Amino acid sequence: MSVETRVKRVTTHVLSEMKLKGEKISMLTAYDYSMAKIIDHAGIDVVLVGDSASNVMAGHETTLPITLDQMIYHAASVVRGVQRALVVVDLPFGSYQGNSKEALSSAIRIMKETSADAVKMEGGTEIIESVSRILSAGIPVMGHLGLTPQSIHKFGTYVVRARQEGEASKLLDDAHLLEEAGCFAIVLEKIPATLGERVARELAIPLIGIGAGGGVDGQVLVVHDMLGINQEFSPRFLRRYHNLFAEISGAVGNYVQDVKSGNFPNEREQY
Ligand code: KIV
Repeated sequence: MSVETRVKRVTTHVLSEMKLKGEKISMLTAYDYSMAKIIDHAGIDVVLVGDSASNVMAGHETTLPITLDQMIYHAASVVRGVQRALVVVDLPFGSYQGNSKEALSSAIRIMKETSADAVKMEGGTEIIESVSRILSAGIPVMGHLGLTPQSIHKFGTYVVRARQEGEASKLLDDAHLLEEAGCFAIVLEKIPATLGERVARELAIPLIGIGAGGGVDGQVLVVHDMLGINQEFSPRFLRRYHNLFAEISGAVGNYVQDVKSGNFPNEREQY
């Protein structure tokens, strides 16, 4: 029996066992109780309360505006909807880059106020002191390398990262550094597939890709993108499994017509 079907609750240990056995890890974002409940029921391994909430929930252009309090609100709602998956929460921009003490107190707030299982942080060597401090407090950390949206103003664009040798070798060094520090997994975003495959081969911890090719240990997508709720984002790596925008707006259109025509409520729908 696969590790995935055997377990009642996904832990960081389960994920490393899955990597060892060559079983792929599935991960999706969620930001609220109802969606978390649906994707957990469908058998997702990891639920990420991503700071992409800033884009898809709040309508901001970048992930930078979302606050720690807002992330805590989303994460606590998600945790209430999840029974099996591991819940990972993004530390938002500005809550960990200042210094490692501030980083630890942000991570502690997330763990105490949401009951999530782990935090995720963007960056390598620049944030390693904070990563180590959080890990020493017993909080599991997932890394995030490649395209790191919290640094969009430094990059200036959302194009594929680490195509050049210099950036690729820094990414590889950063991945090793995060593994040595004790991270249980790393997200690799928008990098060449050959590099994703190489990092996954060299590291013992799971590498979860988003636009990092098929040679990594698992995949993550933003749930609003893969369900077609958000239609404004169509990168090459995105596979849309549904067109919920059309489905929902069709249903709402029918409701509007029924209300206007007096067809709703009918006799059985009233007291
Ligand atoms: O915030 C997010 O949704 C993420 C994923 C894109 C990995 O970090």
